[in-house]
Amino acid sequence: MHSLLAFLLAAVAAANPLASRQVSGTSTVNLGNNTGTPAHLASGFIYGIPDTQNQIPDHFYTDIGFNYARAGGAQVPAPGRGWIWGLTEYKNRFASALSNYKTARKYNAQFIFLIHDLWGADGSQNSTAPYPGDDGNWDSWDAYLTQWISDMNANGATAGLSIDIWNEPDLTYFWNAPQSQYLQMWGRTYHRLRTEWPSVQLIGPAFAGQPSASDNWWTNFLSFVKSNSSVPDEWVWHMEGGGGDMEGAYGALTGMLKTYGLPVKPLNIDEYGTFPEQVPCGSAWWISQLERVNAHGLRGNWLSGWALHDFMGSLVSKPNADTSSYSPTATGYFPNGDYQVYKYYNLDMTGYRVGTSPSADLKLDTYATVGSDMVRILTGVRITTGTWQITVNDLSAVGLPVSGSLNIHTWGFPDTGGHYAEVDAPNDLGWYAHTYSGNSVTFPIYQTDALTAWAFEFYVG
Ligand SMILES: *[C@@H]1O[C@H](CO)[C@@H](O)[C@H](O)[C@H]1NC(C)=O
Ligand SMILES: *[C@@H]1O[C@H](CO)[C@@H](O)[C@H](O)[C@H]1NC(C)=O
Ligand SMILES: *[C@@H]1O[C@H](CO)[C@@H](O)[C@H](O)[C@H]1NC(C)=O
Repeated sequence: MHSLLAFLLAAVAAANPLASRQVSGTSTVNLGNNTGTPAHLASGFIYGIPDTQNQIPDHFYTDIGFNYARAGGAQVPAPGRGWIWGLTEYKNRFASALSNYKTARKYNAQFIFLIHDLWGADGSQNSTAPYPGDDGNWDSWDAYLTQWISDMNANGATAGLSIDIWNEPDLTYFWNAPQSQYLQMWGRTYHRLRTEWPSVQLIGPAFAGQPSASDNWWTNFLSFVKSNSSVPDEWVWHMEGGGGDMEGAYGALTGMLKTYGLPVKPLNIDEYGTFPEQVPCGSAWWISQLERVNAHGLRGNWLSGWALHDFMGSLVSKPNADTSSYSPTATGYFPNGDYQVYKYYNLDMTGYRVGTSPSADLKLDTYATVGSDMVRILTGVRITTGTWQITVNDLSAVGLPVSGSLNIHTWGFPDTGGHYAEVDAPNDLGWYAHTYSGNSVTFPIYQTDALTAWAFEFYVG
């Protein structure tokens, strides 16, 4: 009801456009700028898959176009804590990762194996836990890789496989050893895996920090992989700090690639979004950001214990999900409000993508497609409130007149009840006619909560 009320207020205000409100900025959609076929690049998530296969029904994966998974048995409890606790604990953790791999492949999703988690450095390791190459001794790491390579081969688990050589080594939480030791581990592991599996994707560095010329994890890594001929197949980092933006981060990366004489490669943000950003408006904002730079994206996962292995990265829920009666193996799944954004993004936003730009303050962003029937614009503010606007340019590029009246259909994607509550569909907020001229139409976004995303649709000419 809240978002419907907001819309009605918006509709009234739109009759006196922006009369009494301060507009913070404009996101533009350029209908003449075809940027290629949609591949719902942001439809991945890390963990989120139950270790019992088929526990979450297929349609939850297929409706959002699930295409990227990332796991390695993190937080499986004893006796499943990984290699550093012995072979049995390794095998139990491996079984979790292998099950998640099989689920991902069922939907033809690429699977990023997290070998730091299978080793046991999942963040819950104690302060004396070993790291590869401690005291210059690589025996345990080499034996670990031998075991893992053998197990992956025995299970035929190398199709659709990517390997993040280490997750977030720039946080002591995951790598509590010298940076130089990390670089040696990278070089050693990269060449071994490349020789073993020439067509498996070796990706990284999966730093928590976005590319920056003043971050010595980045500069030393780029310098090392250049000299060591161990350049990753994708440039990977995480965007979970609640700040930054994709064009800024990618710009910093391309600058450094020039400095170090390194090639441009596909981008993979294999953890994006803070937990508060995992709401409809935050997700629409991230989708827009990732699509603009053609980056694959996987939703971060902020749950822990067995819940980490459930809920599809906080897109679905089930009875007792957030209570002390939570059961990792219980079923009865339902979608939340955020899920509806991804469903629309995958199922409705077909045709071809068109270029968009965010508002100058980077708060409002849009992702847009031109289908054979309709233009569809998904938009979200980065979890804040205020007033922005969207300008759609080059209407004639989709066969519309350069002036007239345009009927625009609005959907509201509410976050009713939060991460664990059921939302089965967006709200149909009806049609509203906008008069326009100059081959362009502008309409306001009155963001009165920091949760709701919007989609706007109109027929092509
Ligand atoms: C710390 O973890 C290691 C495995 O990484 C284990 O061998 C050791 O016993 C643990 N120490 C304590 C005090 O729990
Ligand atoms: C890359 O670095 C690793 C670790 O130091 C080393 O074993 C390997 O020989 C290096 N390879 C090249 C081509 O420099
Ligand atoms: C088209 O959109 C893309 C993505 O936003 C942008 O990089 C490119 O500069 C745009 N091209 C033109 C001609 O506006």
